[in-house]
Amino acid sequence: MAYSYQHKTLHCGQVSLADIAASAGTPCYVYSADDILERYHAYDQAFGDHPHQVCYAVKANSNLSLLRLLAAAGAGFDIVSGGELYRVLQAGGDPTKTVFAGVGKTAEEIEYALANKIHTFNCESEAELELIDGLARKHGVTARVALRVNPDVDASTHPYISTGLREHKFGVDISEVEAVYARAKRLGHIALEGVSCHIGSQLLDTDPMMETVDKMLALVGRLRSNGIPIRHLDLGGGLGVAYKPQDKAPSIAEVIGAIGRKVEGHDLEIMVEPGRSIVGAAGVLLTRVLFRKQTPRKEFIVVDAAMNDLIRPALYQSHHEIIPVEEPCEEQRMLADVVGPVCETGDFLARNREMPAVLPGALMAVCTAGAYGFVLSSNYNSRPRVPEVLVEGATWRIIRRRETLEDLIRGE
Ligand code: LLP
Repeated sequence: MAYSYQHKTLHCGQVSLADIAASAGTPCYVYSADDILERYHAYDQAFGDHPHQVCYAVKANSNLSLLRLLAAAGAGFDIVSGGELYRVLQAGGDPTKTVFAGVGKTAEEIEYALANKIHTFNCESEAELELIDGLARKHGVTARVALRVNPDVDASTHPYISTGLREHKFGVDISEVEAVYARAKRLGHIALEGVSCHIGSQLLDTDPMMETVDKMLALVGRLRSNGIPIRHLDLGGGLGVAYKPQDKAPSIAEVIGAIGRKVEGHDLEIMVEPGRSIVGAAGVLLTRVLFRKQTPRKEFIVVDAAMNDLIRPALYQSHHEIIPVEEPCEEQRMLADVVGPVCETGDFLARNREMPAVLPGALMAVCTAGAYGFVLSSNYNSRPRVPEVLVEGATWRIIRRRETLEDLIRGE
């Protein structure tokens, strides 16, 4: 557990969040390096001797310091844009351990990735296969490709982050995959060495993932018997984290252990692309209460963080626990909406939440905000983006400074 009360104050590891807020200001994201590394190692170790590569999904949190930390631990990366590749390279990440996904890669992005010799393009359509082949030919290289398969499995998660059903834009329908590989044999500058999939994110039930592994292994068998020498299977990311106290997050060790048993003897390198399950629980968003506002209908706690800082509640109706940094002495409770200063009714961090009663000035931690928090933040309402802090053992440092008013108009 990265966060705990010590002497009545919430700490990240050994560092008081009140100290961080006093010096870095609020709102502010805080991440635990120890927690991130622990979860990365949990993935890596659960594979044991089986050939594998853990490719951290950069989209979940792309701060350079986090990427550096993971690169140094041996992680590969899952990217979805030229911008993410740039970040990986800047952080000293290894492009030869990097896989590139996404339904709309541009020629420019593909050439950038070819020039940096990435491991594999996770290719989402036949048209993209041809584009990659043509660009590889132009540059006199061979591109390693894995077709992203849409396995038609229901991930039972929020519809916006469910990706493995036939009606979704992702991948090639599993019923068409063999024909696509057969036709692609004529493309001389791609090496068809892998298959990939990703059925969705925030999976708390892992049965759909196991069903996917079975479907993909059967597919690998069929492709191999058609003479396609498949060497690796990329299973994507998706393991969920506990946002609500009653949520049970799947155990990384158990899930990867179960996958390891299924793939044993198949002579396949396994890749996974976890994002949220590595960084989600490692982060909080610190915010301060500005006002309490009572209306005839409701009570509102107005805080200094808003939907532009953390959009997940507004966009995915997601729940984030919000707890006071100073442990409340007596359990006085209140029912309130926690809202920010942005001019929209959709600007809330929590609705109808029963929580400890807090007063203006109180510091609060919005929990489990390490994944898809800062990366989805914006300057909406001309609010400067907030700083990010990394805690390592007993020390902490700012890994992205707070934006200034000048930053807001840079480039205009
Ligand atoms: N691989 C691919 C191809 C993906 O599309 C994703 C996430 C991942 C890996 C990483 O999935 P994870 O292990 O983090 O679940 N903004 C949303 C989540 C979007 C996920 C998009 N794809 C949220 O805040 O819930």
